[in-house]
Amino acid sequence: MATRRTRTPGPGRGRGLRLAGVLIAVSGVAVLGVAPAGSSGQPTAHAPVRPSRLVAGMTLEERLSFVQGRWDDPRQQVIGESGYIPGVARLGIPPLRMSDGPAGTRAAPDSTAMPVPVALASSFDDDLARQYGRVLGRDGRARGLDVVLAPMVNTIRVPYAGRDFESYSEDPLVNSRMVGQEVRGIQDEGLIATTKHFAANNQETDRQTINANVGEQALHEVELSGFEAAVQAGTGSVMCSYNKVNGTHSCGNDTLLTSVLREQWGFRGWVMSDWSATHAPTDILRGLDQDMPGPPLGPDYFGAPLKAAIQNGSIPVTALDRSVTRILGVMERFGLLRCASAEGPVPGCSLPARPRFDAAASNAVAQRVAEDGAVLLRNKGDALPLTGDAARDIALVGTPAVVPVIGGRGSSSVNPTSVAVPRDEIVERAGRGAQVSYHPGVDTVGTVIPGSALSGGAVDHTGDGALPTRSYDQTRTLTAPEDGDYLLSIRSTVSNRTLTVDGRQVASGNSYRNDTLTGTSARVHLTAGTHEIGVKVQGYQEGSKLSVQLTWTPPQAARADLASAVSAAKKARTAVVFVYDEQTEGADRTTLALPHGQDALVSAVAKANRNTIVVLNTGGAVTMPWLSSVKSVLDMHYPGQRGGAATARLLFGDATPGGRLTQTFPLDDAHTIVSGLPRRYPGVDGQEEYSEGVLVGHRWYDRQKVKTLFPFGYGLSYTTFAYSDLKVVPRPGGLEVGFRVRNTGDRAGQEVPQVYLGPSPGVRNAEQPVRKLAGYQKVRLRPGESRRVTITVSERQLQYWDSSVHRWVTGAGVRDVRVGSSSQDLPLHRKVDPSR
Ligand code: BGC
Repeated sequence: MATRRTRTPGPGRGRGLRLAGVLIAVSGVAVLGVAPAGSSGQPTAHAPVRPSRLVAGMTLEERLSFVQGRWDDPRQQVIGESGYIPGVARLGIPPLRMSDGPAGTRAAPDSTAMPVPVALASSFDDDLARQYGRVLGRDGRARGLDVVLAPMVNTIRVPYAGRDFESYSEDPLVNSRMVGQEVRGIQDEGLIATTKHFAANNQETDRQTINANVGEQALHEVELSGFEAAVQAGTGSVMCSYNKVNGTHSCGNDTLLTSVLREQWGFRGWVMSDWSATHAPTDILRGLDQDMPGPPLGPDYFGAPLKAAIQNGSIPVTALDRSVTRILGVMERFGLLRCASAEGPVPGCSLPARPRFDAAASNAVAQRVAEDGAVLLRNKGDALPLTGDAARDIALVGTPAVVPVIGGRGSSSVNPTSVAVPRDEIVERAGRGAQVSYHPGVDTVGTVIPGSALSGGAVDHTGDGALPTRSYDQTRTLTAPEDGDYLLSIRSTVSNRTLTVDGRQVASGNSYRNDTLTGTSARVHLTAGTHEIGVKVQGYQEGSKLSVQLTWTPPQAARADLASAVSAAKKARTAVVFVYDEQTEGADRTTLALPHGQDALVSAVAKANRNTIVVLNTGGAVTMPWLSSVKSVLDMHYPGQRGGAATARLLFGDATPGGRLTQTFPLDDAHTIVSGLPRRYPGVDGQEEYSEGVLVGHRWYDRQKVKTLFPFGYGLSYTTFAYSDLKVVPRPGGLEVGFRVRNTGDRAGQEVPQVYLGPSPGVRNAEQPVRKLAGYQKVRLRPGESRRVTITVSERQLQYWDSSVHRWVTGAGVRDVRVGSSSQDLPLHRKVDPSR
C-alpha cells in the first residue's frame, strides 16, 4: 500500500509556467467545490465513495472516457505529458495526467534528469532506490502529473537491446528488489507508478511484432519476478508491452493479464497499453483496461469500436465497468476521489496538495546515485583517485567532457533543470594553477556542413532561424571531398531524428532536451563524390519552433582532432578520455564496440600517455580492446544532470565509486549469450526463442564457462575488502547467511557482498543455474572497519518454478552457499541443507 503524506494546500495554485511561448496554468491544488462549508447542506468532509457507485452513476460516454487516452488536455504540457484521461468534472473526478519515466519525470518545463536506472541498480542499494523513486514521485507531483510511466523492469537479456539502460539488471533478484523499492518511493509521494513493459519486451528490434517464445519456468523465474515484486509493492498500474508472448500480443494476453497478474499475484490496479500496443476492442476482455494514447496519435480500439461492440452486445458492458472500477480504485487509493461523489463534486473539498518542486533535494539524490552507482572497472597502480601532479596536469579528451551525456535516447529522455559539465567541475576541483586542457579527439558535435558541400545550402535552422514547424524532412546531396570516415550528426531540440545515407538508415534517436541541441550521430564510410543524405526530424513542441542542424566532421578534420588530442595527452601528466554511446529506444545496437571511432581514440591517447583514465558514458556493456593499455576505467553509465559533478568527485577521490555491474560485460561480440544464435536473438521470421531458459546473464556464462570481460557483480573500490567467518543457518522459510567483511585499506569504501546458491540435488523436472544470486547487501566501511553482515535468503530463492504443476516448489537436499564480491570471486563456501 502506498503511504501518503498529508500536506496542507501549498501556494502553487495558479502558478504559471512559461514554456515555448505558451503560458500554462499549473494548479497546485484543485478546489472542486464552490459552496462554502456547510452552506449547501452537503457534507464538507470527504464522504467515502465506492468506485463501483461512481461507475453506476456514469453515462456510457463517461465510462468510455477512462479506458482510452486523449490528446486534448486543455493544460497540455508540450514537453512531457504522454497521455491524458479527462476525468468527470460533473462528479468531481479529476483528470489523470501521465508522463514518462523512468530516468526522471519528463515534464514541463523541466525536471530532474536522474542517472539512468541501470546506474541506480548498480548501487545495489535498496534505500537509494526508494529515494530515487521519491524524487520521481515528488518531481512528478510538483510538475502536475498523476501517473509516471515508470519503472521499467524488463530483464537485460541481450546486451544489444536499445533500452537496457532504462532497466536495471540481467538478474531477477536485483530487478525485484530495485523495482519494489522504486515503486514504493514513487508512490510514497502520491504519484501512481506504472511498471512496464509487461512482459518480455527485451529488445527493440521488431518490438511491435516479435513473438517471444518463453518457457513457463524461465518466464516465472526470470522475466516475471520483477513484475511480481512491483505488484507486491503496490504498483498502481502495469503497462503491457508491444510484443507477443507465446503467440499472443501482451496487451490481449489472457494468461499474462488475467491468470498471472490478477489470479496468481492478486493485482488490483489497472493495466494500460504501451503506446499503440492495443490490437482489438476485445483486448478489454483479456485483461487490458486502458488503451493509450488514443487517437489521433494512436489507433482507435477502445473508443468508437468498443462503444459499438458494447451497444451491439458483443462485448458486455460489465467488462467496461470492471476496467473503469479498477482505474477509479487506484485513484481512490491515492486520494484522487476525495472530491468525487455520485451526486456531484463534494463542496469545499480539495485534492491532495502538490509539493513544491525542490531542485536542490532532487539534485542531491541524483548526484548520490551517480556516485554510488559508478563502477570502477580497472584501477592499475591505484591511478585513481587522482592526487599530486597527476591531479594538476590533465588533458581532457572526448566530447562528453563538455557536452554532458546525461541520459539515453527515447521516451525516457528528460529536459533537465540544470546540467553539471564535467570539464567545469574538473577545472574547479583541480584548482588554481592546475592545467586542464580539453580536446574533442572525436568531434561528434562537428561543424555545420557548408553549402559548398550540400545541395540546397547548409541545414542550420537555429536561433532566429528556427523553423516554425514540427517536422523537417529533406533529402540533400552531399559531396564528399575524399574517401574516408565521416561523422554526420543531426542536431536538434525536442524531437525524433532519423539520418539516412544513400537510402540506408544510419542513426535514429530522440531527445526531449528543450533549449539545447542534442545530436544523433553516425560514422559512415563515404567514397569521394556525391551521396544522398536524408534528414528527418519530428518535433514534439506544439506551437514552438524547431531547431535543426546537419553537421559533420570530415576525415581531414577528424585526423586533426585526433592528432591534437594525442599531442595534448603526450604533454599532460594525466589523460582522461570520455567515451560515450547513443543507446536509444526504437533501435538495438549492432555491436558492443564503442561508436564513432572512439576505440581508436582511446588506443592512440593511451599510447601517448601512460596514465590514461577512461570514463564511460555508456548505457550498458561495451567492449574495450584497449583495456590493458589504460590505467583506469570508470563506468559512469548515463549519469544524469549531476553526472559531471559526480565524475569530478570520483576522479579526485572526494567520493568513492560504489557500484557493481548488474550485467555481464562480454569479452566481445563472439562471446555473448546470443552470439551466432539468431533464433535466440533477434529472432527469425518474427519468432524468437528464449532457449537460454533460466540461464540468463551470469548464469549462462557460468554454465557455459565462457570468459567475460567483467563478470556480473564486479566492481572495484578505492580500498580493498576481505571476507571471513561464513556461517549459514537454516531458518524457517529460508537461510541466514552470516559472515565478516573487513575494509583492509586506508580509505572508506562501499562493498556489495553477494550470496550465491547452488542447485538443489535431485530436481529432475527443472533447469537450475550452477549458481544463482540469492542475496546481497550494500555495506559502507571506514578504513580498517570490520563488520558482521547477515543476509537472509528467502524461501523463494530456494524454490524453482515447476511447470508440470504450475507453481513454485522448494528444492530439497544439500546446497552450496558461496559468498564474495562478484559472481566470479566467491572466497567463502559452505554446504547446507536448508530443511535441517
Ligand atoms: C514506450 C513506453 C512509453 C510510451 C509513452 C512507448 O513508445 O515504449 O515506454 O511509456 O511510449 O511515451
